[in-house]
Formats: sequence, C-alpha cells, structure tokens
Amino acid sequence: MTADVSSHALAATHKAAFGRQEGWGAGDFAGYLTDPKALVFGTELCFALVRLAGPEAEILTLATHPDVQRHGRATTLLRNALRHLAAVNVQEVFLDVSDQNTAARALYARCGFTGFSIRPNYYKNGTSAICMKAVLSAASSD
Ligand SMILES: CC(C)(COP(=O)(O)OP(=O)(O)OC[C@H]1O[C@@H](n2cnc3c(N)ncnc32)[C@H](O)[C@@H]1OP(=O)(O)O)[C@@H](O)C(=O)NCCC(=O)NCCS
Repeated sequence: MTADVSSHALAATHKAAFGRQEGWGAGDFAGYLTDPKALVFGTELCFALVRLAGPEAEILTLATHPDVQRHGRATTLLRNALRHLAAVNVQEVFLDVSDQNTAARALYARCGFTGFSIRPNYYKNGTSAICMKAVLSAASSD
C-alpha cells in the first residue's frame, strides 16, 4: 500500500492509460487520497484505487502507464493488494470491467476474479460491463 503518491501523478498515469477523455483528473484522485475508506496500492506508474466497505472492497480503478505495461506490474500489484485486503479481513473484492477490455479481463482472471453478472450498455461507448469478484480467505494473506 502506498501513502506517498500525488494526485497529479496518478492522474497523469490514468490519462495515459485510459486516454485524455476517459482518464480521471487530479481532483478526482485528491478526494480519494483524503478518504479513510480509500486505499491506493502500487506506485504512481501502476496503481489500484480500492474502496473499503466492511467485509467487502471495490476496485474503483486500476492502471499501468503505457511506458511500463506488459512487465507484470499490474499482476504483482493486484496480488499484493489482495493479500493485504485478506489480512485486514476483507472477504470479497468486486470490480466492473468492460467486456471489450481483453487485457484487464485476462489480468483479473489470472488473479482469481470470476464474472457473476453483466450490465448491458454500461459505459458511454455502449460496451457492457462484466461484474467480477474475488473471494478471499485467511489463506489468501499468506
Ligand atoms: C490492464 C492493465 C492495467 C494491465 O497492466 P500491466 O501492468 O500491463 O499488466 P501485466 O503486465 O501484469 O499483464 C497481466 C496480463 O494481462 C494481459 N494483458 C496485459 N496487457 C495486455 C494486452 N495489451 N493485450 C492482451 N493481454 C494483455 C496478459 O494476459 C498479461 O499477462 P502476460 O503478459 O503474461 O501475457 C493495463 O493494460 C492498463 O492500464 N490498461 C488501461 C487501463 C485499464 O483498462 N484498466 C483496467 C480497467 S478495469
């Protein structure tokens, strides 16, 4: 888990990864950085923003800067995040991913997420969201 990240650096990575239209701005991240229920895992170049809700957590967003994609960073980040969440007694982790996002879907499947529902036409571009979850256990924190 990272404490010393800047909202501007997170926004720069997010816009590089998602594109200028879809990427979040520094103001979006600044709000989360002061929210005690929000955690940032990873680094400014590869991070996940997670919101805690009792025994559940939600991955709000996750991005790797295009300059360093495909080096296993997101896999390592996500596995570390799930270990940390299991250690603080989170039992289930949820996320939404576009059905067109083959890279992210492969990443999430590799890290133990399975789809449980579909939200048709969920995103602005008309693509559907797949709702995924990972069930954590005490063993996940080992
Ligand atoms: C999805 C994303 C976070 C992956 O980050 P990354 O650090 O490159 O991921 P990893 O290197 O750990 O790759 C994990 C696996 O994901 C899949 N993957 C990653 N990038 C891929 C690509 N461009 N095409 C196809 N599969 C890809 C592969 O299965 C990969 O494993 P492999 O390299 O051993 O084949 C990154 O591509 C990204 O930021 N994308 C834009 C933002 C986004 O879609 N975020 C998720 C929203 S839900």
